Amino acid sequence: MKFFIDTANLAQIKEANDLGILDGVTTNPSLMAKEGIKGEAAIMQHYETICELVDGDISAEVLGTSFEGIIEEGKKLAAIHPNIVVKVPMIKDGIKAIKWFTDNGIKTNCTLVFSAGQAILAAKAGASYVSPFIGRIDDSGWDGMQLIAQIASIYQIQGFKTEILAASIRNANHIIACAEAGADVITSPLESILGLLKHPLTDIGLAKFLEDAKKMG
Ligand code: E4P
Repeated sequence: MKFFIDTANLAQIKEANDLGILDGVTTNPSLMAKEGIKGEAAIMQHYETICELVDGDISAEVLGTSFEGIIEEGKKLAAIHPNIVVKVPMIKDGIKAIKWFTDNGIKTNCTLVFSAGQAILAAKAGASYVSPFIGRIDDSGWDGMQLIAQIASIYQIQGFKTEILAASIRNANHIIACAEAGADVITSPLESILGLLKHPLTDIGLAKFLEDAKKMG
């Protein structure tokens, strides 16, 4: 399972990358706005900086919602760096655009996916990644992990090549459950990735080893 970090914060991207386990980055307009990135030039520059920091797929989301607008923006984003993946919302024009990008050799991430039907459409259009938002599904009283397992089963039966990129991760347990449910990739805030490190018995055991190490001279 690949690990992506879900942020536009450069310090957090660096910290995750320094762990040596990072395979890519996802961003969205909310995450970019949180970092104060404003205007086309600044947006393009920020994606370029992320591409220089991390050697892996970097999702850059389009802001337009018409077929023509998505294509125009996506072409500009894809021209920034070969690792850019154009992130396109799950709407009718988005599906048309994903098919166009697929036919023109541009990688895509179909975002805002909340159902198996949407995931089938994204795969039919040839999306490189499909992003089911598990945390937001859980928040609304449904089971995000069940959706990951359902999409994994459908893609396997049908032989779809689209990778399942589990998004909207809220904690370390989500990451573990995604691995069990068959996600190809998780995209997660840094905190949830670091949460995988934690176990109280590790802390107790290490404290004891360090104490006994002193006796060894
Ligand atoms: C997906 O790529 C999105 O950027 C993200 O995972 C959404 O997460 P949120 O529900 O925490 O905003």
